[in-house]
Amino acid sequence: MRGLVLEGVGRIGLRDDLPEPTLEDPLDALVAVTAAGLCGSDLHPYRGHEPARPGVVPGHEIVGHVTAVGPQVRSVAPGDRVLAAFTTSCGTCPPCRRGLTARCGQGRLFGWGAPDAPPEGALHGGQAERIRIPLADGTLVRVPEQVDDATALLLTDNLPTGLEAVQRTGVRTGDALVVVGLGSVGLCAVAAALHLGADPVVGVDPVADRRERAERLGAARAVEPEQAVDALAEIHRDRGRPAVEVEPTAPAVIDAAGNASGQRLAFELTRPGGTCSIIAVQTTDRFAFTPVEAYDRNVGVRVGRASARATLEDLLPRVAAGEYPVPTGTVMTHLDVALEDGPALYERFDRHEDGLVKAMLRP
Ligand SMILES: NC(=O)c1ccc[n+]([C@@H]2O[C@H](COP(=O)([O-])OP(=O)(O)OC[C@H]3O[C@@H](n4cnc5c(N)ncnc54)[C@H](O)[C@@H]3O)[C@@H](O)[C@H]2O)c1
Ligand SMILES: [Zn+2]
Ligand SMILES: [Zn+2]
Repeated sequence: MRGLVLEGVGRIGLRDDLPEPTLEDPLDALVAVTAAGLCGSDLHPYRGHEPARPGVVPGHEIVGHVTAVGPQVRSVAPGDRVLAAFTTSCGTCPPCRRGLTARCGQGRLFGWGAPDAPPEGALHGGQAERIRIPLADGTLVRVPEQVDDATALLLTDNLPTGLEAVQRTGVRTGDALVVVGLGSVGLCAVAAALHLGADPVVGVDPVADRRERAERLGAARAVEPEQAVDALAEIHRDRGRPAVEVEPTAPAVIDAAGNASGQRLAFELTRPGGTCSIIAVQTTDRFAFTPVEAYDRNVGVRVGRASARATLEDLLPRVAAGEYPVPTGTVMTHLDVALEDGPALYERFDRHEDGLVKAMLRP
């Protein structure tokens, strides 16, 4: 089978001798991948910031057709067009029943293996022709016809993740909300925040192309990190807020950058009593602010993997009905990348090349 493999730090290989996935458990399904996403989360192991076992097929954003199911699978059948949430979940354990499918007792992340675990501990990902999906009933979702592959791919991770990042801030209509980091996750958060009535929504990113996309989605301003404080103060002033309220902070701030400086900025932009929603994957052994700093400003901190599968229960029907703004056209910049171009794509994505926000591989 053909697919990409993480060979080591900064090294993605194209292989055509990968073992064919098979049904290993009665709850497994096999899926022929028609679209696989490249996510900012794939960059953490690629850059060596997150330890990972080499030899694993990366990719946790998967859309395709079911080709086979184990004898205990009930909700999908061969031929169904499906998407997989980016982690597996059983749907029945206590965390799953609470809606925390990200922390399913049996949950695993596609496309990653711990470096010190045995090889069978790794769950191969979707940047390959075919994939084994454990816990198929809890993990897979059938995709309605009117939802195209690019939108379905956003639904596997970045769209529900961006929405959850916003929801965790507890933002209310008319509250200012800042998104630090305008990759696919950050842009999906901008769209979600506007949809939920946040106003103004301000984006922050060093990459001009990504800032322009945020403004196209409706952000009041999108600025470079060094300008964020001034921009917030200006916006508050322009909107005629009383002088005492003109502080260069917001009640709701999202860290979707994925490094210490982005997180530090997100924390500094959070108003006393506000919430800093850290949706970026954490790869360091401490936060970019101290407990004392958080205490001294009564900042609420939210962190953790998004429960995409649980969020989809409500989100997918709304997307299919056209009732939720999906920024597919703004975010999905590369729609048909062949597996052969995968290694070069990783390099370009790692540089955050202008014009490349999110790419869809077509295995
Ligand atoms: N919690 C979850 O469940 C979950 C799910 C998906 C992705 N993620 C994480 O979300 C983060 C974003 O993902 P993505 O796909 O959008 O990644 P991405 O790499 O495409 O985007 C990150 C953006 O942050 C910007 N950035 C870097 N430093 C910055 C700074 N100091 N200030 C402002 N912006 C800065 C970059 O220029 C880039 O545009 C990653 O850490 C990813 O791992 C988390
Ligand atoms: Zn992802
Ligand atoms: Zn579970």
